[in-house]
Amino acid sequence: MERKVVVVVAVSVAAVACGMAAVAVGWRVRKRREWKKAVRVVREVEEECETSVERLRQVVDAMAVEMHAGLASEGGSKLKMLLTHVHNLPNGSERGTYYALDLEDTYFRVLRVHLDGQQSPILEHEVEQQTIPQHLLTSTSKDFFDFIASSLKEFVEKEGDDSELSVARRKELGFTFSFPIKQISVCSGILIAWTKGFSIVDMVGKDVPACLQEALVQKGLDLRVAALVNDTVGTLALGYYHDADTVAAIVIGTSTNACYLERTDAIIKCQGLLTTSRSMVVNMEWGNFWSSHLPRTTYDIDLNAESPNPNDQGFEKMISGMYLGDIVRRIILKMSLESDIFGDISSKFSMPFILSTPMIAAMHEDDSPNLREVARILKDILEIPVVPLKVRKLMVKVCEIVTRRAARLAAAGIVGILKKIGRDGSGGITGGRRSDMKMRRTVVAIEGDLYSNYTLFREYLHEALHEILGEDIAKHVILKVTEDGSGIGTALLAASHSSK
Ligand code: BGC
Repeated sequence: MERKVVVVVAVSVAAVACGMAAVAVGWRVRKRREWKKAVRVVREVEEECETSVERLRQVVDAMAVEMHAGLASEGGSKLKMLLTHVHNLPNGSERGTYYALDLEDTYFRVLRVHLDGQQSPILEHEVEQQTIPQHLLTSTSKDFFDFIASSLKEFVEKEGDDSELSVARRKELGFTFSFPIKQISVCSGILIAWTKGFSIVDMVGKDVPACLQEALVQKGLDLRVAALVNDTVGTLALGYYHDADTVAAIVIGTSTNACYLERTDAIIKCQGLLTTSRSMVVNMEWGNFWSSHLPRTTYDIDLNAESPNPNDQGFEKMISGMYLGDIVRRIILKMSLESDIFGDISSKFSMPFILSTPMIAAMHEDDSPNLREVARILKDILEIPVVPLKVRKLMVKVCEIVTRRAARLAAAGIVGILKKIGRDGSGGITGGRRSDMKMRRTVVAIEGDLYSNYTLFREYLHEALHEILGEDIAKHVILKVTEDGSGIGTALLAASHSSK
């Protein structure tokens, strides 16, 4: 009897143990399956974002071809290739005191720059920044410029009329207005459309500097708008002031754009325009570039469809700081829908733009052994308290895929410009690669947080530039960070286009 009881107990214990083992195995199998599903999402996006050097060269060619088309006729390409009427870049001989007004997304800055005609490496200047009240971003052009003119007046008067600026002497201002503008002359231009957060409807189609000038006159301020400048053009001016080998400028931050010096005779659409100058700066508005060679994913398609400007700024939506965080968010949302690796789905995953690009950079560049920063962002921003290390690693991978594609495409864009102007070591757009060609030192001025503050983005961009051009050519191409082209560079342009 006793033996029988012992046998029964032993059998039961074994059965429970087997059951528990089976549950554990089942749990592990399910976990592995879920993990695989998440990995599959990442693998797929990695394949779709592939930017081999062959593909990048196709993008280079497409950029150069579109540049030609945009220069040939108005509306000939998605690249607007806008004339700036800037023929003279500052060369260091400028003297005097000049002002700049730089209009940014949510604030504007006013600067006063003193030039001694000696090409000083350090440009003496004063700056003041002011927030634009939110309601003015959607108000009328009159209210908007009244506000700006009042602040400018305060700045000009507060800084005082020093001996150099006698009361009788008219002051001159460069106006940085980084939106698509059809320029009629260096100091006048009509707003084609707003981008970023602005929507002052009555300003579209108006001569923007004329609106500002009118407000200045009404405030009794004798300040002439001498140059209307895109931020890329200010960057080029500052780059050129310091280094006369500068041929192009790129802004790559929240949004992105490029400009470069073009031969006047290559700008077919402006033939007939009276000019004795051999070159002109062209504002490409490259954020709107599009080509079927761009590696587009379903995440890009959805982001575009849900944006306020679907089908516009396609290149910008793949490469600029405003969008990278949201592309990453869309990928992890998909991972969380397809698998349970994040546990319960957080409602935060569905909130557009909850992940900013600085957060992506912080996760991507987290070099702590247990990825502390990734865990912090997941917890604080996305409200996922506990995430295993291998999932955190997968997050880093997603950031890498999105950023790497962006940086490599930006590099292809830059080489596209170099190709158009015959500085890529090939014989230009029609010629083949010529190793015997003497390559000139070529400087591209560059500004923007994405490039300056995100080390890995910068490294990927440089790496791709070298891959596309090859070492022999790439060593002649220098990307030079300028500081405050949209402020100081614009004041320099006011000086080089001064009426004095
Ligand atoms: C604007 C460009 C500007 C760029 C960088 C884009 O959204 O259309 O004119 O240069 O942002 O600020």
